[in-house]
Amino acid sequence: MLLDLARSRRVLFIGGKGGVGKTSVASALALRRAREGARVLLISTDPAHNLGHLWERRLGDSATTVWADEESAEQSADDAAPGAAGAGRLDAVEIDPDATASAHLDEVGSTLRSMMPEHLHSEVDKHLDLAARSPGTHESAMLERLAVLLDEGPAGHDLIIVDTAPSGHTVRLMALPEIMTAWTEGLLDRRTRAERFGAAVRALDGDDDPESTSSEGRDRRIRRAITRRRDRFATMRAMITDAGRCSFVIVLTAERLPVLESAALRDQLAEAGVAVGGFVVNRLSPSDAGEFLAGRRAQEQTQLAELRRRADGAAVETLPLLAGELVGVAALDALGAAMDPAETP
Ligand SMILES: Nc1ncnc2c1ncn2[C@@H]1O[C@H](COP(=O)(O)OP(=O)(O)OP(=O)(O)O)[C@@H](O)[C@H]1O
Ligand SMILES: [Mg+2]
Repeated sequence: MLLDLARSRRVLFIGGKGGVGKTSVASALALRRAREGARVLLISTDPAHNLGHLWERRLGDSATTVWADEESAEQSADDAAPGAAGAGRLDAVEIDPDATASAHLDEVGSTLRSMMPEHLHSEVDKHLDLAARSPGTHESAMLERLAVLLDEGPAGHDLIIVDTAPSGHTVRLMALPEIMTAWTEGLLDRRTRAERFGAAVRALDGDDDPESTSSEGRDRRIRRAITRRRDRFATMRAMITDAGRCSFVIVLTAERLPVLESAALRDQLAEAGVAVGGFVVNRLSPSDAGEFLAGRRAQEQTQLAELRRRADGAAVETLPLLAGELVGVAALDALGAAMDPAETP
């Protein structure tokens, strides 16, 4: 199921409770697809990023290539055809909401300063500083950056895998495009009224006022910026609610609470219009490695049965508990192999 989804969808969200293995599963799956020749973009939306740790390198807000198929890279260099089909590559991004928020507020700041007399500039700065720290700014900046990456994605990547933050945060993130679309629509309505008012005032003043063209220009710029934002959120909303292009995979461990919470998460996502492609039960204990683990495995089987009952027909797949530390390409390859039915006995 997991690999099939990654082969057939353009965007996959990997979500679930804290510490269940979301980052590991997202990374191993991304690497697997890159090895198959896909150009994959792996995005972390978790404010407490740990993608970089797994790939043993510093990642940031713009894409860093963490793995590339050297053979086909060399081949395509020989053929002088870079980016030829089959040159699998994996790029990774850890979204930095602070960077998006401050870029946005810088833009707002320069507009405001150009409209205000010099002696009020420090007031503008104070106001923006407050805005930067107000609740919601971080969240909408995160969403905005994700929307841009999803929008640009199809140009450079065949598949985008999003490693999300623990459940609650992610459900809000998935519902947010709809809220933000409505909110920006409201903003546009208010602009329309303000512009009509401005036009009426200008008409009363007589049209030869030299200020009029610049304030009309400003209105147009503001309107364009709001419209662009509205369209971006609407595009994202259309993408995440299109089950043919986008799917959500819930990772969990075979324990009582994670099973209950994962079933609840699926219901919440369904309410937001997001289709869940299936459940991945990670770190399943081996049944042939001693009595202790066999005992655990027996308990896990009970929880697996419970999950299947609650899954309501959705696919349930398992991944084994691996012995070593899950860091670096070799370890991710091992987890990736377990995702491929062709390689598992
Ligand atoms: N199949 C596995 N076998 C062994 N260890 C695993 C497996 N999957 C994940 N781990 C380990 O479990 C820990 C948590 O994994 P990971 O960081 O991927 O979870 P997460 O859901 O992304 O966590 P967070 O919610 O904090 O982002 C890590 O130490 C990881 O190496
Ligand atoms: Mg994680």
